Amino acid sequence: MMNLHKKMEEMLLKRHTHISMHVPGHKNNTIGYLSSLHLDFDMTEIDGMDDLHEPTGILQEVNQTLSGKYPGYHAQMMVNGTTNGILSAVYAVSDQTERYFIVDSAHKSVYHALKLLNCKPVHIKSTEIVNRQLDSHDTIIITYPTYSGEAIDISNIIQYAHNYGTTVITDEAHGAHLDMAPDFPKSSMKYDSDITIQSYHKMLPALTMASVIFTKSRALHDKVMKYVNYFETSSPSYLIMLSIESAQEFYDNFKPELFNKNRKKIIQTLKSREIIVKSQNDPTKLILNHPSLTPYELAKVFTDRHIYHEMVTDRGVLWCLPLFHNGHSYPLRLLLERIGSADFSRVHITPEKTNLEILKNRTCIRTIVPYPPGVPLVHEGETITDNHMNWLSHYVSNRVRMEGIQYNLEYYKNEDNR
Ligand SMILES: Cc1ncc(COP(=O)(O)O)c(C=O)c1O
Repeated sequence: MMNLHKKMEEMLLKRHTHISMHVPGHKNNTIGYLSSLHLDFDMTEIDGMDDLHEPTGILQEVNQTLSGKYPGYHAQMMVNGTTNGILSAVYAVSDQTERYFIVDSAHKSVYHALKLLNCKPVHIKSTEIVNRQLDSHDTIIITYPTYSGEAIDISNIIQYAHNYGTTVITDEAHGAHLDMAPDFPKSSMKYDSDITIQSYHKMLPALTMASVIFTKSRALHDKVMKYVNYFETSSPSYLIMLSIESAQEFYDNFKPELFNKNRKKIIQTLKSREIIVKSQNDPTKLILNHPSLTPYELAKVFTDRHIYHEMVTDRGVLWCLPLFHNGHSYPLRLLLERIGSADFSRVHITPEKTNLEILKNRTCIRTIVPYPPGVPLVHEGETITDNHMNWLSHYVSNRVRMEGIQYNLEYYKNEDNR
């Protein structure tokens, strides 16, 4: 039996070979300034420090600095990720909301919040929301940009919603770096989103779980704070908070030239190997395909060369690019060499064989969520249809991790044996 410490040591030893094209944005501590943090900073809310849930001192000052990112907004650091912010935001508007609209799709945390509130959401496409009659007892929840870096025209949606007095919550988990450079998409806060939550740890160089919730009105901010207090740990990590401050400094001083230059080099090298590179609205995201491989096979070629992706779906392999800056230590040359010398002709994935038949037409007992991206495929209480079954077997055979699947299988096996 291996303990966690030994496992981490083993991972660290491999690090010189591990190339990160995934979150967190510090990319194995090669981007940003997290090296200036050390374990002695792992303090707690002793005298002389501050209380994150009612900040009046140094933590309030940091929050004020963060508010400067989008003037007019109230910012609050969080140490339990955007998940915590989404739960708090959905609860904060619950006394004024009768209908929650989910635009396109949502992370599981949105469904968890609504489930706790006993609310059934209305699903709506981003293209249809502006034809829908809304009112001031509605709240719409939008994921922007998407996991893969698509940015819909959110300005129109927010303006339309606000004309009806509808509240807009924007899940910007994948957008802490927006507005950092002229060709990066604009944050929903440029268009007056009521509440926006950003995972600093995903694209910026911050520690895992570092997030910030931004609220437009003071009254709503106060409600948000009530629920942040409910859902968040009462022992916030100063290391995570320090990493938020460091990431904000990184954001404020970022110059895009080196990022643009290195991004171009990566794309050129990929294309020289026949890889089809799809750029997204967000320039830090690339979707890769190969003419003679499935996305899952292509991902395997890369992981065999220790280049690790963020996500692989039927649409391709998703890479999150590093935010290159002067003084970074990201192994760019090694990355280019490995892409240049990869063998795309010999790859084989042994399909995972799990018999799923037992689930057909059964009621889903625990929500099944492919992770990443964390968007539920079958919700608790839904019947598992033929269409679901096709997706489930497709994902299982391609070794996509799915939360909840094992629980459902065990449940029905026990049920049938009774
Ligand atoms: C769209 C979206 N929202 C929210 C979250 C949750 O963010 P966090 O990991 O910061 O809790 C994720 C995580 O992957 C996500 O993809």
